[in-house]
Amino acid sequence: MLRGSRLECLLSHESELNSDQLMVRKAGWPPLFCIPIYGSRKMTNTKSLELISIALSIIALVLVLTLLPTPASGAFQTNDARARELFVSIVPVLKHPRCLNCHANGDFPRQGDDSHVHTQNVRRGLHGFGKYGQRCSTCHQEQNVAGPNMPPGAPHWQLPPADIPMIWEGKTPGQICRQIKDPKQNNGKTIAQIVEHVTSDKLVMWGWNPGEGRTVPPMAHDEFARRFHEWARNGAACPE
Ligand code: HEC
Ligand code: HEC
Repeated sequence: MLRGSRLECLLSHESELNSDQLMVRKAGWPPLFCIPIYGSRKMTNTKSLELISIALSIIALVLVLTLLPTPASGAFQTNDARARELFVSIVPVLKHPRCLNCHANGDFPRQGDDSHVHTQNVRRGLHGFGKYGQRCSTCHQEQNVAGPNMPPGAPHWQLPPADIPMIWEGKTPGQICRQIKDPKQNNGKTIAQIVEHVTSDKLVMWGWNPGEGRTVPPMAHDEFARRFHEWARNGAACPE
């Protein structure tokens, strides 16, 4: 019946059209050709009901297709076992000294592969920037200073703040995972923001460019970020 209406519309005599419809017709834009005709006084009630039911059917079909699981959406289905496995696999990076030295117990940073207490009595301070004359930025620049035992650097070099110190030292993979996911302990981040953080944050990136004489975490940064992302995509379940 759609076809019928269209034909009728194309064949309508110009004298039967109102001025708006004539304008559309003269503009000669085919997709609009029939639209005004459906609204014309020639249209019967049955026709408008048909149109409404066609529209409703299309909406219903689209809804069903969106809600039904399709093979393509399988990639986004959660998989707790896979997510747990992925999280466990990235823990050796989190526990590597390049990361742990800022995510360790106590109210001070650590140094070196043995994670010894930071020299010069450097402290965390309320906001993680250090205390009094020993502020991190006194010695740490936005990039590494060349040479062995010189201060490493990256933008915003600091510890997490005292009220949410983000400590991983001595914790199981499950404890670290739940802490990282908890907005009260991760500074209000969503899981997507955590993934973004480990993908592009300057302090995280520094771990793979730590300056002379320092080892790097046991996995390429790309691979680390990819596993974090896949953990999230699989539903971000935590190990026991
Ligand atoms: C008085 C200067 C000074 C201040 C202040 C200072 N640092 Fe350092 N920091 C250094 C030096 C020098 C090194 C390099 C030591 C080495 O490699 O032997 C270092 C190393 C580090 C390392 C070790 C990196 C690694 O993985 O081995 C971390 C982490 C660190 N500092 C964090 C901080 C933080 C956070 C603050 C502020 C709360 C801070 N530092 C304040 C001088 C300072
Ligand atoms: C110089 C200190 C420093 C180093 C080194 C460092 N971080 Fe952090 N990290 C921080 C600070 C500060 C925050 C808090 C940032 C915020 O809240 O925006 C943080 C937050 C995080 C978070 C946020 C989630 C949470 O609640 O724990 C993750 C994940 C993280 N770091 C991963 C790493 C990884 C991986 C490395 C090593 C490759 C690393 N960090 C090295 C200082 C550091």
